[in-house]
Amino acid sequence: MCHTIGGGVLVGPDLRGVAERRSEGWIVSFVQHSQELVKAGDPDAAALFEEFKIVMPDQPLPEDEILALIEYISTAGPTGGASSGPAEVIEAATEEQVLLGQELFQGTTRLANSGPACNSCHEVRNDAVIGGGILGPDLTTVISRLSARGVRAILARPPYPVMRRAYLNSALTEEEATALVGFLQQADADQALYQPREYGIKLFFAGIAGTALLLLLYTLIWRGRSKGSVNQAIFDRQVRST
Ligand code: HEC
Repeated sequence: MCHTIGGGVLVGPDLRGVAERRSEGWIVSFVQHSQELVKAGDPDAAALFEEFKIVMPDQPLPEDEILALIEYISTAGPTGGASSGPAEVIEAATEEQVLLGQELFQGTTRLANSGPACNSCHEVRNDAVIGGGILGPDLTTVISRLSARGVRAILARPPYPVMRRAYLNSALTEEEATALVGFLQQADADQALYQPREYGIKLFFAGIAGTALLLLLYTLIWRGRSKGSVNQAIFDRQVRST
């Protein structure tokens, strides 16, 4: 799920009233190939891409199906309360959920439907997680970029072919998705604490100082050692006694 009708912004914009905002022709070509519109310099498409920073995958739907969808969108949407989709339950993850999410992310706890651990493709820069794959983007600040609801929606139905395929027959459970989003929220909130520090030239001088200190220490520890060669001492004694 990437869009809602009147439920707010997820990965993509809320589609309520889209038919009033855009012409039918525009919607059809955007659904079929949004990036072509962006490249052709369409200001509305470019603005959307700029705002959401995510490519909507092309939907090879025939025009009449898209028009039927537009029709559906203009009649649907919450008139009563927003549907209680997964998006509502995520905001406050408990500590256990965050921990579970971390373990699921790294694969130290297996996913119930035995999907691959997220860190086989993704990385989160965090004290708790050691390295991750680079096939998918770094997820350290994904919550800031896409919002918790957006990420939750991605997990429910990955819009990316590679990731979708990975979880095709091994979908995440609701609890797992909640825990993972909780963990990613935590990682995002913490990331300011984990900024790599820039030591610059100081590190080099610290290295030299450390080496000098060690050499001094060795000199002190072994100051009683015999100097020169053993033969030299015998030779000197002989010379003296003649
Ligand atoms: C088989 C590899 C693979 C696995 C496993 C995988 N992903 Fe992904 N994921 C991807 C790829 C590839 C993309 C991005 C595709 C693109 O941007 O075109 C992606 C995108 C995402 C995004 C959107 C990131 C962004 O910056 O736009 C999120 C969030 C995400 N994955 C979360 C997860 C989580 C959480 C898991 C574990 C449950 C997971 N992924 C497991 C491959 C994977």
